[in-house]
Amino acid sequence: MSGTSKTLILFRNNHLANSHTLAVYEANGGYRAAAKAFGMTPAEIIDDVKKSGLRGRGGAAFPAGLKWSFIPKNDPRPKYLVCNADEGEPGTCKDRDIIRYNPHQLIEGMSIAAFAVGAEQGYIYIRGEFVREAEVLVKAVKEAYAAGHLGDNIQGKGIRFHLAVHRGAGAYVCGEETGLIESLEGKKGQPRLKPPFPANIGLYDCPTVVNNVETLAAVPLIIENGGAWYASLGVDKSAGTKIFCVSGHVNKPGNYEVELGIPLKVLLEEYAGGVRGGWGNLKGVIPGGSSTPVLTPDICETVTMDYDAITKAGSMLGSGAVIVMDKSVCIVRAIARLSRFYRHESCGQCTPCREGTGWLAKLMDRMEAGKGSMEDIDLLTDVARNIQGKTICALGDAAAMPVAGAIKAFREEFVYHVQHGRCMVG
Ligand SMILES: Cc1cc2nc3c(=O)[nH]c(=O)nc-3n(C[C@H](O)[C@H](O)[C@H](O)COP(=O)(O)O)c2cc1C
Repeated sequence: MSGTSKTLILFRNNHLANSHTLAVYEANGGYRAAAKAFGMTPAEIIDDVKKSGLRGRGGAAFPAGLKWSFIPKNDPRPKYLVCNADEGEPGTCKDRDIIRYNPHQLIEGMSIAAFAVGAEQGYIYIRGEFVREAEVLVKAVKEAYAAGHLGDNIQGKGIRFHLAVHRGAGAYVCGEETGLIESLEGKKGQPRLKPPFPANIGLYDCPTVVNNVETLAAVPLIIENGGAWYASLGVDKSAGTKIFCVSGHVNKPGNYEVELGIPLKVLLEEYAGGVRGGWGNLKGVIPGGSSTPVLTPDICETVTMDYDAITKAGSMLGSGAVIVMDKSVCIVRAIARLSRFYRHESCGQCTPCREGTGWLAKLMDRMEAGKGSMEDIDLLTDVARNIQGKTICALGDAAAMPVAGAIKAFREEFVYHVQHGRCMVG
């Protein structure tokens, strides 16, 4: 039963002093998985990752092995592997901790993934604000080169993989994989129209795999212990462990690595120290980052933290950022704040997003100020509907979903704002 075992994959070395160094990583079995992988065929590695059930941890939950299998085999163009360390979704802070405490597991995972897809060059695109983490990463990459885990002849096996760390400049949209690719190419970080997908036309118009930090860092243990082992963790179509970034009104906010399928209530009560003021003081939980619809306490009581259960509950597991709100929170105010974020981060390329995020922010601000009308509530829903699914990238959806979700779950708070010109929370 998930949630009860304490298997750690990504944070397994965090308790050790200097866990970020090569010496500590190697002393604890580091780079053994790469050695094993280089004795396998690329097809065998991809098969094992498929078997593991590992899904992308960046938000979209696409099966990792399947993504790798889309890279064309007999194509003369160079292939690229890009690690998405942009970590821009509000509430998300897990990749940062993997990089801080376990950077070599990410580098090892990348060298295995690169070998599996035939990439000889990789990039880690790291969020500009992560200054210290970028320093840790650059040091770790240098150590890996010096020890022969990266370079022209990895571990003396004739395998070539070079890795560069590239710092972003703080734009949320550059976390979207094609915006990221544009940015990496030195252009304005505006997402591309898909298809074609990066697997075919990616970085420098060549086949490219883009994976999240958490996805790639899970790979060494999958190879070491086998895909079936990883699939035995978690539940059904949500295999393995996941880091949940629990923030907001809990007594012990933090990053917790647990098996997927853990009941949300257990995560909050047993790991995050409980809701401030007790479970009865819970108002709502945003379960997967700021773009995912808020869940009401009755749902939080029973829902489990896996992809299917959260989708069934009307939200998304997203990046695993669990934002907890107690009864002191004005939902209208909280969502208005998010709407301002999305307006600011829209790249402006698509009209529904450029105009729509502005409308949402303006309407939400009006609503919060107690100057909205009942028609505005429907207008908000309508604007959200007219953004969703109508933009080049999912930033539009990310802006629309929290608004539509909050109106659905907490309509009475919006109505109160209209009728009383202020918030019911006081
Ligand atoms: C607006 C926007 C921002 C995103 N930001 C991130 C991010 O910061 N980190 C990330 O890994 N994925 C982010 N994604 C998802 C990526 O586009 C992509 O799905 C992911 O990097 C693929 O890796 P995965 O399959 O390992 O999850 C974002 C998507 C959108 C639409």
